[in-house]
Amino acid sequence: MSLRLLVFDSGVGGLSVLKEIRRRVPAAEIAYVADDAAFPYGDWEGEPLKDHIVALMGRLIERHRPDAVVIACNTASTLVLPPLRATHAIPFVGTVPAIKPAAETTKSGVIGVLATPGTMRRDYTRELIRQFAQSCHVRLVGSSELAPLAEAAMRGEIIEDEAIRIEIEPAFIEVQGRRTDKVVLACTHYPFLLERFQALAPWPVDWIDPAEAIARRVVSLLGLTEAPEEPRGAGSAYLTSGKSWPAALLPLLAGFGLKAG
Ligand code: DGL
Repeated sequence: MSLRLLVFDSGVGGLSVLKEIRRRVPAAEIAYVADDAAFPYGDWEGEPLKDHIVALMGRLIERHRPDAVVIACNTASTLVLPPLRATHAIPFVGTVPAIKPAAETTKSGVIGVLATPGTMRRDYTRELIRQFAQSCHVRLVGSSELAPLAEAAMRGEIIEDEAIRIEIEPAFIEVQGRRTDKVVLACTHYPFLLERFQALAPWPVDWIDPAEAIARRVVSLLGLTEAPEEPRGAGSAYLTSGKSWPAALLPLLAGFGLKAG
């Protein structure tokens, strides 16, 4: 296969999406770019963030010449997909909050959406709720802390339970005797904290991670056939700051077939 993909996030969260793409089309050649120079995206205002990503993406596309781009970041996708699609002729696959599958499967009708503050504020997110979850009670929670905590945890730092608990607890509510039964992981960093979330949740819920669905979308949009047995294609991971990757992250990158670029 000679498919070149650019997978993009503000940090290492997008690796949760890359993992699923690797499982389905391992032979794809992947450039993973983490915009660490601007991390975290969650607290940026919409317009400056949009301008920043559009300009950066122009440079990345010129440099990596991908056949398609996966924006493995909710905070970016809920903002920049229309201008990117209008500017570049290649396909873009985005990552947006999995509100529809949560609304389709909730039994209690009470859904939590755990996102960044940026994703929480977006019209795009409100529109998803209006279109697909009008009959549900949706609690949108925007955390500034969780993505940086996920990065720290992935670098091997110790994260206290309490720091995580106070961020996830607002997603758990009770409305007229019915409790949250689905929590959407609306930031690609959060699946890396899933075991901590499960252990610290006030009660058990289904956690909805859209990574698999995004990987399936990549396959269908590009007209590919899943070929999980094929040998792994090359992969490199880049930081926009130009810094070296922290040593603690190298084994993780290697596990996904990426060498530090
Ligand atoms: N991983 C990103 C997302 O899916 C955002 C993390 C951040 O930069 O705040 O929203």
